[in-house]
Amino acid sequence: MANPVDTAPHHESAQLHVSGRALYADDIALPADTLHAAFGISSIAHARIRTLDLDPVLSMPGVASVAVAADIPGENNYGSVLHDDPIFADALVQYAGQPLFAVAATSHVAARKAARRARIDYEPLPAILDIRSALAAHSYVLPSEHLVRGSPDDALAQAPRRLRGTVTIGGQDHFYLEGQIAIAVPQEGGAMLIHSSTQHPSEVQQLVAHALARRAHDVTVQCRRMGGGFGGKETQPALMAAAAAVLAHRTGRPVKLRVDRDTDMLMTGKRHDFLADYDVGFDPTGRILALRIMLASRCGYSADLSGPVNDRALLHLDNAYFLEHVDIVSHRCRTHTVSNTAFRGFGGPQGMLVIEQIVDEIARTLGLDALGVRRLNFYGVDTRNVTHYGQMVEDNVIHKIVERLAADARYLERRQAVAAWNAAAPVIRRGLALTPVKFGISFTSTAFNQAGALLHVYSDGTVLLNHGGTEMGQGLFTKIAQVVAAELGLPLSAIRVSSTDTGKVPNTSASAASSSSDLNGKAAQAAAQVIRQRLIQHACDRYGVEAQQVRFHDGRVLIGERNIGFGELAQHAYRARISLSSTGYYRTPKIEWDKTALRGRPFFYFAYGAAVSEVAVDCLSGETQLLRVDILHDAGTPLNAAIDLGQIEGGFLQGVGWLTSEELWWNPQGELQTHAPSTYKIPTARDWPAQATVRMLDGEPNREDTIYRSKAVGEPPLMLSISVLHAIRDAVASCGAAGALPDLRAPATPEAVLRAIDAVRRGVVA
Ligand code: MTE
Ligand code: MOS
Repeated sequence: MANPVDTAPHHESAQLHVSGRALYADDIALPADTLHAAFGISSIAHARIRTLDLDPVLSMPGVASVAVAADIPGENNYGSVLHDDPIFADALVQYAGQPLFAVAATSHVAARKAARRARIDYEPLPAILDIRSALAAHSYVLPSEHLVRGSPDDALAQAPRRLRGTVTIGGQDHFYLEGQIAIAVPQEGGAMLIHSSTQHPSEVQQLVAHALARRAHDVTVQCRRMGGGFGGKETQPALMAAAAAVLAHRTGRPVKLRVDRDTDMLMTGKRHDFLADYDVGFDPTGRILALRIMLASRCGYSADLSGPVNDRALLHLDNAYFLEHVDIVSHRCRTHTVSNTAFRGFGGPQGMLVIEQIVDEIARTLGLDALGVRRLNFYGVDTRNVTHYGQMVEDNVIHKIVERLAADARYLERRQAVAAWNAAAPVIRRGLALTPVKFGISFTSTAFNQAGALLHVYSDGTVLLNHGGTEMGQGLFTKIAQVVAAELGLPLSAIRVSSTDTGKVPNTSASAASSSSDLNGKAAQAAAQVIRQRLIQHACDRYGVEAQQVRFHDGRVLIGERNIGFGELAQHAYRARISLSSTGYYRTPKIEWDKTALRGRPFFYFAYGAAVSEVAVDCLSGETQLLRVDILHDAGTPLNAAIDLGQIEGGFLQGVGWLTSEELWWNPQGELQTHAPSTYKIPTARDWPAQATVRMLDGEPNREDTIYRSKAVGEPPLMLSISVLHAIRDAVASCGAAGALPDLRAPATPEAVLRAIDAVRRGVVA
């Protein structure tokens, strides 16, 4: 048998997924007296509630109970960082879609019907809805951050060339296929069991305990898997869980709360939209000399994860480029819209889009190919290798990746071919772009970079493994099982990874920041090594051999000349009264981060990648088509090459959706109009390009001591999609005079593309 980490076994749930037998929270068999809940949500962005009359709700058929803010036994809050997220709005409404109450009834439909019957009298207040208005009103959820390196003022003043502009970046709904859901089942003595579709069971546990005025050990949270999370189930699930728990507490009956798609999209946070005003100084070769940026994002009504999301945007504004003199101000704008949250990349993609547009505009202004300008500005290997926040870039493989990719994808030849095509094609224009990715791995909040695992070996030699990570489709459970199998010399079939459970591994971090396999893999490895040592010691005692004569392989244990089954040794060890259960623990080394000074080493290492995209743009309809993509991505030594390839392809296409078709649109009253698949367009299988080559960089193990020298791969590939936006920009630019700067915002919907084409044709300078 090959080592399970040298092969690429399929996802542990693949067969269950495709046969419809994988259990999601909605599939859990319920006790007979279970109630079903629905939220009543506000229809207004900003208002005082004069009266909230719930009598018509209570008189609807099947209704058992309603809960408003005053019915919460503990704290009316599910804020993850600050205490500014009420479970139910109390007196003040801060966004259209905010939960005001929840109703429990005998069926899901009965609850939804009843929820609509509330009679609410609002006193409307003026609402701040967008970033510019918030900036004008100095409306912020958190203090602004300011990062300065070098002497940006002098360097800007002395720069031979200068350019100013604006970058406009839209948000994104997570559109996980499984919506938000929680089931609260009352236990004896006031305890509560929660089934939650959550990336962060420990936080759900804590916030439910606070809402119920109980302690952490009274609440247990379980999650077998999510049907997608993408960051949207990092903080939001606590709201569903807390509301269900409050109703379960009131009625003494189990309560299931599964929100429908429209409510989910109206009520839950999304990717932050961003605005950036820039002023860049450069030399005639395109080298950036100085940069000043005003970065602002729409955080919504509360802080949620906006602090760390905006920090990451600030820390990824360099992408792969050395910025010697830089001044970045980051504003976290408070608006009367849904509170934005984590989304794959966590602000990083937005920061990177800013610098990519700047580099592109420098190249166009100078009449140079953007790839040359990108390479000129890359971090050096021995010099020009310290980030604007003071971390040394020690593992730079971007030169190697871009060189290989440009050659394999024949970038330069195709650049000529695209120019030749455009010279002869008045309607269908082509565009080409190669963009790099450099993404920092670790939580910027240093404390989160820890993990635990709990490993049991049963006396028949089978293994049950529990760890703090959650499975959302990304293949974490498969990877962790591979690690344990490799450490104990067992086939994968001998390992079962059980549901994530706060009763088994406590105080876990969210499965996020792409770090779950790094953290939980090492914790599981540590647990397996403890058991392995105990078994070796027992074999030595029993058979009188030396430790190095004991080897675990393919479900067997070689002990000197003997060859016995792993189960047999486990049985012997059990009879000899040796514990076959162990915990494992890991914390990431080397990282340190000064949040105030914005200096240090927040990231253990960087993951890299690059993509070349070619598009066709219809200049009459504004429609775009991705014709071809070539990707070279760095996953270190992949833990599972098949799963990692899936993460690269899926991440890329999710990013393409964000940058081309997924448009969130609020009307002037602040009501989200795009809250269903009928109006919100995510990519489908048909959007995958006819020609795609996706490869992983080989021969580059992680230089840091990560689990089997792998690299995190969950988020970084999303940013490969920036190449698609830039290919569209390239096609749009071809419609104008040489040096025209396309004023193209993201997402590049057909409307946005048409507007940008019109502007370059009329010679309007961005
Ligand atoms: N892949 C699938 N299939 N489903 C998901 O919800 N979430 C992404 C990424 N890949 C996600 C996914 C996000 S936002 C993160 S942070 C990582 O997976 C989390 O898992 P990891 O830490 O195991 O990479
Ligand atoms: Mo991912 S946005 O860190 O859940």
